Amino acid sequence: FEEQSLRPQTLNQYIGQDQVKQNLSIFIEAALKREESLDHVLLYGPPGLGKTTMAAVIANEMSAGFRTTSGPAIERPGDLAAVLTALAPGDVLFIDEIHRLPRSIEEVLYPAMEDFCLDIVIGKGPEARSVRLDLPPFTLIGATTRAGALSAPLRDRFGVHSRLEYYTTDQLKEVVLRTADIFGTAIDRDGAEELARRSRGTPRIANRLLKRVRDYAEVRGEGHITLQKANEALELLQVDRLGLDHIDHKLLTTILGRFKGGPVGLDTLAASIGEESTTIEDVYEPYLLQIGFLQRTPRGRIALPGAYEHFHMEVPSP
Ligand code: ADE
Repeated sequence: FEEQSLRPQTLNQYIGQDQVKQNLSIFIEAALKREESLDHVLLYGPPGLGKTTMAAVIANEMSAGFRTTSGPAIERPGDLAAVLTALAPGDVLFIDEIHRLPRSIEEVLYPAMEDFCLDIVIGKGPEARSVRLDLPPFTLIGATTRAGALSAPLRDRFGVHSRLEYYTTDQLKEVVLRTADIFGTAIDRDGAEELARRSRGTPRIANRLLKRVRDYAEVRGEGHITLQKANEALELLQVDRLGLDHIDHKLLTTILGRFKGGPVGLDTLAASIGEESTTIEDVYEPYLLQIGFLQRTPRGRIALPGAYEHFHMEVPSP
């Protein structure tokens, strides 16, 4: 529950994502004024940027109940029907990893999203008949690491599409200071900034590193996080100056070394470093693309000059 209390409860407490917050605050206020449920919201972007947190904040701002499930947890149409029929009027239903909903189950969602109703088939064979159940008005909030993986009909049924962006160092510094305050941990501003700089634009990583640096400062010091303690702890954690960890390193050095800078296909790369292709694609690559270390080309992944420089390798001449 420590995790839970770290999460901001309101749009005002939520740091960063200013564009998304501005838009949502308008849609929320309008829905509240009309005494309607908020239109369905699709949140997309790399993992760890606060999609689940944002969904909970939206529910709270709407004074609505918050129910959560995930794409992989829903295996049969009946699973989804059970979730939908348990909703109370105005509830927010959050479906994480919504791109992993089987297509046959998506079809149950369409009438639920459009008309707040559920078509269920009762019986089998010639006796089978379809009955239509009314559902209470609700807001579906879907989260996905890639909007492109959603089928077009599902994507089109969300009235609001919000893309979460990587956080700036200043925003992550605010997150670190806020979390340290909740922990009751003393931290110097330059220590917080160093943590922020090495968190790959991702608050989930910032909070995780903060916990480990706090451990370090408690054991190897008096618990106060100084810049020096932060640097020592991060070095021990093998988080480099840019926040890249040993898996980022393995990925990049494999492309740079074994594949001579690429291009190398995703599956070949995945097999070489022993990670799943989807993990590389959804978790590791987005930040490396963002900082310009990597490029996706039709022939595969290639390392860009920034990556060579980071590993003190000569950039090949074109
Ligand atoms: N903790 C984690 N992410 C946060 C955010 N975006 N705002 C405030 N606190 C957070």
